Amino acid sequence: MTARLRIALSKGRILDETLPLLKSAGIELLEEPSKSRKLIFPTSNPNVDIVIIRATDVPTFVEHGAADVGVAGKDVLMEHGARGVYEPLDLNISRCKLMVAAKKAAPEADGRLRVATKFVNITKQYYAEKGEQVEIIKLYGSMELAPLVGLADKIVDIVDTGNTLRANGLEPTELIATISSRLIVNKASMKMKHGVLQRLIDQLALAVDNNR
Ligand code: ATP
Ligand code: PRP
Repeated sequence: MTARLRIALSKGRILDETLPLLKSAGIELLEEPSKSRKLIFPTSNPNVDIVIIRATDVPTFVEHGAADVGVAGKDVLMEHGARGVYEPLDLNISRCKLMVAAKKAAPEADGRLRVATKFVNITKQYYAEKGEQVEIIKLYGSMELAPLVGLADKIVDIVDTGNTLRANGLEPTELIATISSRLIVNKASMKMKHGVLQRLIDQLALAVDNNR
């Protein structure tokens, strides 16, 4: 009997960029998620379904075995910790950079630096390694606004084209990490469903290579 597999993806760029890779592995959605309120979607492979959740929830679902496999940005994995999952494959999609940014030609802050970000853990670790004491201000989005309205001196955020920074008079100052999305696998699933998972990983690796 073939093992059943549940794959966790997030709406938007990860879903859009993962679906063509899954197609190469014979897995296609049977309906368009943006036209549905459903959360669990069957696929062309009767043994595989796809759950569509928030990007930041993907490591949690996979770590707890609620999904066998997931796709998450390295930023999300670094922030989450994600020590309870395997990360067997860099899918080389949703590529971007995690950077520190500030107002153009901003003077050095006097006193303790205030940094606004949704990546609180990454930011804490980054400044701890530099030996700098900072105040971290947790935001859930629109980080670029923080330096413009005096909420923070710097931000830690995703940069791709740099258009969002430029449009707001900000500039990148330090690179924290280059980011791409990774395939993650639940540790127990990797043992219990090894054959079917290894086949999926091999097929996806081939599709990733063909995309290069
Ligand atoms: P949430 O649903 O929790 O708000 P999100 O808005 O970060 O999550 P997406 O914008 O779909 O979700 O981003 C998913 C992943 O894609 C991020 O974790 C990051 O790795 C990558 N990413 C984010 N922004 C960009 C971008 N502008 N260009 C390329 N990749 C990006
Ligand atoms: C991300 C990120 C930046 C922007 C950077 O936001 O939070 O704001 O992309 O990309 P750029 O350098 O090409 O301008 P996204 O567009 O995903 O919107 P979100 O804030 O809703 O996630």
